[in-house]
Amino acid sequence: MKYRPLGRTGWDISEVSFGAWAIGGAWGHVSDDEALGALHKALDCGVNFIDTADVYGDGRSERLIARLKKERKDEIIIATKAGRKLPKQTVEGYSRQNLTKWIEDSLRNLGVEALDLLQLHCPSTDLYYHPEVFGILDDFVKAGKLRFYGVSVERVEEALKAIEYSNVQSVQIIFNCFRQRPADVFFPLAKSRRVGILARVPLASGMLTGKLRRDSKFASDDHRNFNRHGEMFDVGETFSGVDYELGLQAVEEIRALLPPGVSMAQFALRWILMFDAVTCAIPGGKRADQVEDNCRAADLPLLNPDVMAAVEHIYDEKIRASVHQRW
Ligand SMILES: NC(=O)c1ccc[n+]([C@@H]2O[C@H](COP(=O)([O-])OP(=O)(O)OC[C@H]3O[C@@H](n4cnc5c(N)ncnc54)[C@H](OP(=O)(O)O)[C@@H]3O)[C@@H](O)[C@H]2O)c1
Repeated sequence: MKYRPLGRTGWDISEVSFGAWAIGGAWGHVSDDEALGALHKALDCGVNFIDTADVYGDGRSERLIARLKKERKDEIIIATKAGRKLPKQTVEGYSRQNLTKWIEDSLRNLGVEALDLLQLHCPSTDLYYHPEVFGILDDFVKAGKLRFYGVSVERVEEALKAIEYSNVQSVQIIFNCFRQRPADVFFPLAKSRRVGILARVPLASGMLTGKLRRDSKFASDDHRNFNRHGEMFDVGETFSGVDYELGLQAVEEIRALLPPGVSMAQFALRWILMFDAVTCAIPGGKRADQVEDNCRAADLPLLNPDVMAAVEHIYDEKIRASVHQRW
C-alpha cells in the first residue's frame, strides 16, 4: 500500500481505501461475517481510511466499523456523512439542530468521541451559497465533535464552489474511466489549495471490474436493479450514469488494454491513481477477495502514456456525449 496526504489534515491515507456503502445496504444481502471479513482484509492490506455514511443500512455500516475498531488496534480514519436522512434535500434541512442530531447518531454508532471527517452528503447545489452552514460545521470542530469536515458532491461546479470555504478539507466526487470531467478544471484547483479528493464509485458500481454481462441479474434490494434510471437517487450513482449496454461495450475496449496479470478492477483503480490530485480511491468491497484484488492496484507500476491516451479515446468515443456535461 502507498499513502497520500489528505488535504491539510496531516493524515496520510491509503491510496486504495475502503467504501463501506455495500456492507451497509442497497447492494443485495451482505452478511455481518462477510462484511467484517472484507473490513479486516482491508486493514491487512494496509488500508487506513474508510468511507461510510449514517444512512448506509440506517447506521449498520457505521456499527460494523465500530466492531472492526474494537477487534483491531490499527489506527483507522473514518469519514462519515450526514444529510441524507432528510426526506427531501433542502438547505434549511442543514440546520444546527438537525446536524447536531445526525452527528450524535454517528458518534454513537461509531463509538467515538469525535468524528474524524464529516462530509455533507450530496446536498443541493444551493447549499454551497449558504456560508452559514459551513459556519455551523466550524462550531462543531471548535466544540470537539468533528476533527475535520468535507463534502461529497454530485457536480463539478459544486466541488469548485465548496473549496472556496477554507476549512473544507476534502471533496468526494465520482471519478473513474467513465467520469473524467473532474480532472479538467477541478483537480488542478483542488491541488493548488491542498484539498483532498476522494474518488468514489471508482469501479462504476462494478461495471469496470469487467465481470458484468448483458444478462447479469441484481437482487431487488440492489440499486443496480432499483435505481437504473435514477428512481431513488441521482442516476449518476448507479453505473456512473452510463447506459448499461454502452458501458459493457466500453469495458470490452478497456479490457484489450490490460497488462498481463492485471485484473480489470486493478487497472481501473490504477488509472485513477495516475492523477496526483487524487488522494485515494474508495472502492466498495463486499468480500475479502474483492478487497485484496482492489488493494493490489496500489502496487502496480504506472500506466504508460499510450494506455492513458487509449482510455481517454474510449471515453471520448463512447461515453463523453452522454455523461460529460451532466455532472
Ligand atoms: N453520495 C455519496 O457520497 C456516495 C455515493 C456512492 C458511493 N459512495 C462511496 O463510494 C464508495 C464506492 O462506490 P460504490 O461502492 O458505489 O461503487 P464501486 O466502488 O464502483 O463498486 C463497488 C462494487 O463493485 C463490486 N466489486 C468491488 N470490487 C470488486 C472486485 N475486485 N471484483 C469484482 N467486483 C468487485 C462489488 O459489488 P458486487 O460484488 O455486488 O458486484 C462492490 O460493492 C461507496 O462504498 C461509498 O463509500 C458515496
